[in-house]
Amino acid sequence: MGKKNWKRTFLAGLLILTLTACGAKETTQQPPEPTVSQKTEATKSPEATLTPEPTKSPEVTLASEVTLAPEPTKAADIIQTDEAASIKDVFAEQGWKAGTCLSDQMIRNQSCVELIKANFNSITFENHMKPDYIFNKNESRKSGDLVVEFSSTVDLMLDWCRENDMAVRGHTLVWYSQTPNWIFYEDFDKKKPLVSRDVMLARMESFIRQVFEQLEEMGYLELFYAYDVVNEAWMEDGTMRDCLWLQTIGEDYLWYAFYYADKYAPEYIDLYYNDYNEQYKTDALYNFVQTLVDENGNYLIDGIGLQAHLYTDDSIDKYLKTVEKLGSTGLKVNLTELDVCLGSWMEIKPATEANLKEQGRYYYELIGGLMKLAREGKVEMDALTFWGFADNLSWRKERSPLMFDSSYKPKYAYFGALQQLEKAGFD
Ligand code: GLA
Repeated sequence: MGKKNWKRTFLAGLLILTLTACGAKETTQQPPEPTVSQKTEATKSPEATLTPEPTKSPEVTLASEVTLAPEPTKAADIIQTDEAASIKDVFAEQGWKAGTCLSDQMIRNQSCVELIKANFNSITFENHMKPDYIFNKNESRKSGDLVVEFSSTVDLMLDWCRENDMAVRGHTLVWYSQTPNWIFYEDFDKKKPLVSRDVMLARMESFIRQVFEQLEEMGYLELFYAYDVVNEAWMEDGTMRDCLWLQTIGEDYLWYAFYYADKYAPEYIDLYYNDYNEQYKTDALYNFVQTLVDENGNYLIDGIGLQAHLYTDDSIDKYLKTVEKLGSTGLKVNLTELDVCLGSWMEIKPATEANLKEQGRYYYELIGGLMKLAREGKVEMDALTFWGFADNLSWRKERSPLMFDSSYKPKYAYFGALQQLEKAGFD
């Protein structure tokens, strides 16, 4: 579907003139060639060696290795907060949606449900729409094509989103992790060789098409306002992450992922590139997203998702500079998985009163800083998603990163996010 003509085409046009053509090989689907090089000139950040790897090992994981979020503890009484205090109301004043990740366990727990309904209006599935969860191996083998089949949990969760007026961010299509290895092999059999570039491109196109077609047939597509097309493809030194997508297709797999998503997604769904350690890969991301243009120089991408898995020792100023630089591409910038651990990656601090206050101030200053950038027109943001809400349900639960404690009581961080200076830990 041709679209996004209104995007900052001059930028893309300029790039076409200055960058070299990629020279993709012929494919079975014969899609157009990428118009620009996928390589970036990003230089290595001096901090790169010290940066965390918040996700898993660079190997593609198997479904069986995926750990689900822990079960919510039995409902402590739902917290009584100030009547006016709601993350979604405060964010709405900025024109932002307020998001959280969601697991099926959360919607079975009344305290979680109340807390989510009070504070959020956007949902990202923590796991169930990741590649590990959406392919049917037997059917793929039978048909010879990669077959997408969403689980009944996806129906359950999307029904819940609809009943509770939640918009949805799709997460995620093309990723090195939480993706079954067998999709890359001949006959979907890991004992056989990896498939050719042409076959993998055809599988990629088919899978992306099926995702959007099936969500439409199931009547859910209109809930979606954004989709993470590619997750975590760049390294801090400005090189591309090694993965089976890269090995089978080549460097332009990223361009094709956006080309196919643009072809099959409806106009109202914004297409995102999403990554972590963004403040250490800013140049790589800045250069890369500008290569995602069609033959007319129009962007195939709508937004840059910054995961924002942060630490209270991380520089807020540096982070805001990243947001501002990426905002200058003309693409939307959304924080997609915000959580702020105590201390640093190397040295975790305990959840003392003083450290929790520091965290409150961090949330206050970070979110206040983002609001200021948006008000000044330096970045176009329309949603900020937290990677959960209660510490006990977080993937980094030992590090107390979220706005509510394990009894669902609000922390200083909650009031920081609400921009309530006097309750956010400032003495
Ligand atoms: C990354 C992914 C998320 C999630 C977190 C860990 O940030 O984008 O989907 O897997 O890692 O929970």
